[in-house]
Amino acid sequence: MTDLAQLQSDALARIEAADDAEALEALRIEFLGKQGSISALMKTLGKMTPEERQEQAPKIQGARTAVADAITARKEAFEAAELERKLAEERLDLTLPAPQSPKGSVHPVSQVMDELAEIFADLGFSVATGPEIEDDWHNFTALNMAETHPARAMHDTFYFPDQDADGNRMLLRTHTSPVQIRSMVKEGAPIRIIAPGRVYRSDSDATHTPMFHQIEGLVIDRDINLGHLKWTLETFLKAFFERDDIVLRLRPSYFPFTEPSVEVDVGWQDVKGRRVLGGDGDAPGHGWMELLGSGMVNRRVIEFAGLDPDEWQGFAFGVGVDRLAMLKYGMDDLRAFFDGDQRWLDHYGFSPFDQPTLSAGVGAGA
Ligand code: DAH
Repeated sequence: MTDLAQLQSDALARIEAADDAEALEALRIEFLGKQGSISALMKTLGKMTPEERQEQAPKIQGARTAVADAITARKEAFEAAELERKLAEERLDLTLPAPQSPKGSVHPVSQVMDELAEIFADLGFSVATGPEIEDDWHNFTALNMAETHPARAMHDTFYFPDQDADGNRMLLRTHTSPVQIRSMVKEGAPIRIIAPGRVYRSDSDATHTPMFHQIEGLVIDRDINLGHLKWTLETFLKAFFERDDIVLRLRPSYFPFTEPSVEVDVGWQDVKGRRVLGGDGDAPGHGWMELLGSGMVNRRVIEFAGLDPDEWQGFAFGVGVDRLAMLKYGMDDLRAFFDGDQRWLDHYGFSPFDQPTLSAGVGAGA
C-alpha cells in the first residue's frame, strides 16, 4: 500500500506545483480521467475478494477524494488570483458620461400599441386578448362567415392539419375580430374593449407580410348608434395623429360581421411632395386614404356570442397597427418592420423612456 500512499503524495505535490489552470486540467485527466491512474486503481476493486475489497476500498477512495479536493482547492486559488489580478488592473472611470447611443429601443409597433391603449383607456376601453391559434368557429362562423361564405376565401388562411378535441378546424387567426366573440362570451354586456395583436395571412409583398398587427374595437351597450362610432373614431384619430384637422370620410361597405358596414378614409394633403394627414381629401392636391373597417355589430354576431340582440347593440372596428405606424412615423416598406435590421431599429425605434401619455402627448418625443 505504500504504492498508493506514494501515488497520492506525488499527485498532491504535482497539483500544488501546477502553475496554471491548463496544467491543472491535464493533471485531473492524468489522475481522475477515464484512463487516469487513480481511476485504474478503482477498477481493480472489482477483481478483489470481498475481504481485500473491504480493506482496500476506503484507502483508494480516500486517495481519490484527497486528489479531487486538492484539484478543486487549487482551481479556486487560481480563480481567486485571477479575480485579484483583474480587480487590480481594471479601472472604471465613474466620471465618464454614459454611452452616447442606448442599445435597446422600443419597436414602432409596440410604441403605437402603447399609444392606442393610452388613448382608448381614456375613453373607458379596457384591453382584451385572445389566442393567435384560433378555431374556425371563433375566427369565422361566429362572425357570420359560414363555411361557404365567400369572404372566407378572401382571408388567405393558414390552417393546421389537425382538428381540436371538439372537431374544430384550427388556424392562425386572420384578424383580431374573434376577440369580439371571446370577450362577449366571457364578459357579457355592456362591454368596451380594444384587442391589439398579431394576425396571419398567406400574403407577402411590399405592403403585406404573412404576420401583421391589428387592433379591434368593440362597444356593446343599450342604444349604441352610428354616431357613437363616428365620434369615437374621430376622437381616436385626432388623438393618435395629434392634430385637430383630421378629416374622416365614411363610406358604405360590406363586412359579414357588421350591418351596416362602414369603411373609413382619412383625408391627406400633399405638402412639398410628402403626404401629410389632416387635409381635406376633396380639395385639389388632396386625397383620401383607406384606413379602417367598421360598422354596427351584426345581430347574428351578437346572437352567436350568446347575447340578446334586441337588448344589446354596438359597434366594432378593425385597423392595421403597422399601417397606423407607417402613416404616423413615415416608413414606406412594411417588410422592414420585421427584418430586425439594427439600422432600421436605431432609426425608427423609440426610447423606452418615451412613455406615451395623454398629458404629454401620445406622440413619441413630444
Ligand atoms: N376584421 C376585418 C379584417 O381583418 C376588419 C374589420 C372590419 C373589423 C370591420 C371590424 C369591423 O371589427 O367592424 O379585414
